[in-house]
Amino acid sequence: MYRPIHITESIYYVGVNDRRKTLFENQLPLPYGISYNAYLIKDEKIALVDTVDVCFFDSFLKKIEAVIGTKKVDYLIVNHMEPDHAGSIRLIRERYPDIQIAGNSKTIEMINGYFGITDNLKEVKDGTILELGKHKLSFTLTPMVHWPETMMTYDATEKILFSGDAFGCFGALDGGVIDRTMNLDKFWSEMRRYYACIVGKYGVPVQNALAKLQGVEIDYICSTHGPVWKEQIEKVVNSYSRWSRYEAETGVVIAYGTMYGNTEQMAEAIAEGIVAGGIKNVVLHDVSKTDASFILSDIFHYTGLVLGSPTYMNELFPGVESLLRKIEVRQVKNRVFASFGSFTWAGVSVKRIAPVIEGLKWEVVGSVEEKQALRQEKYNECFSLGMDIAGKIRC
Ligand code: FEO
Repeated sequence: MYRPIHITESIYYVGVNDRRKTLFENQLPLPYGISYNAYLIKDEKIALVDTVDVCFFDSFLKKIEAVIGTKKVDYLIVNHMEPDHAGSIRLIRERYPDIQIAGNSKTIEMINGYFGITDNLKEVKDGTILELGKHKLSFTLTPMVHWPETMMTYDATEKILFSGDAFGCFGALDGGVIDRTMNLDKFWSEMRRYYACIVGKYGVPVQNALAKLQGVEIDYICSTHGPVWKEQIEKVVNSYSRWSRYEAETGVVIAYGTMYGNTEQMAEAIAEGIVAGGIKNVVLHDVSKTDASFILSDIFHYTGLVLGSPTYMNELFPGVESLLRKIEVRQVKNRVFASFGSFTWAGVSVKRIAPVIEGLKWEVVGSVEEKQALRQEKYNECFSLGMDIAGKIRC
């Protein structure tokens, strides 16, 4: 029923796919599902690197047994304690009672907190070596990529980096595990969306982690989500490097709320101006239709953002307010910005947006407000605003 899935001769993939969950962390849509990756290193000692969501424990165990039969697992290495990976720790300990669980001091505290496990734990630090026989594992603490305890494990023998969430992406694995065997089309945009939503707040910690990896020879990156990277290592590391510095491609996201289409008409006029100004990459999102995770992904992708909102109950339209808060939380840097809004009797929305953008220190090009329906004069202002944005981001 299960066959061993090799990464190399002695390292195996034992992860699982989840195509039933609709919302990751009960909030982020999963149109292509998600994989929870775990790995088994077979040597004189056998080490399991991370576990999977507890709902998939049965399949997970069968995959382990397909590799090692009735032998026992000696070590469980816990790179990350979020329950999509750590969820099966308790059951693994029950199945392999002598297993030693390796993690850093913060991991060990969480293992106690989540599972009440206090015995047979091995604390590792930056640079600690764990010898399995031929394989020598070392550990690199990478706090806040994505939680405080996150770390990476490096197998110097086969030059494999077990990277935790880093370099991961949404999207289940449809039969293949290593990038060179798969059509990767769906993963690139899902990797950016994953970064923007999960890791996007932690640009500096990601930079610190990348600095620690400088000079390390890596033949495979085994992340906890998505493909094992072999041929695309340079691309994924460069992507993380750019995103963590909030570098983006030339283009503009226009995100807006609209109740009856008036604010949307302004968005269209601004978009026309941006394209007339020579920018091809323009993406419009109605915040009531497009989940914020996809909008955030585009905000990480492009240099410009234009945000529009009707005034609603003397405040921002709720979907716009929520998006703005998500941007603020992530402290996205270095964007060119403009805003627009419409109202019937009291114009508030543009005023509510301004202080948040000031806090982010973005370059503000301008704003347009319309009372009631869009008239020619305001259409022209919107178009001109679009042209001005295009001029700024072309520079
Ligand atoms: Fe995939 Fe932060 O857990």
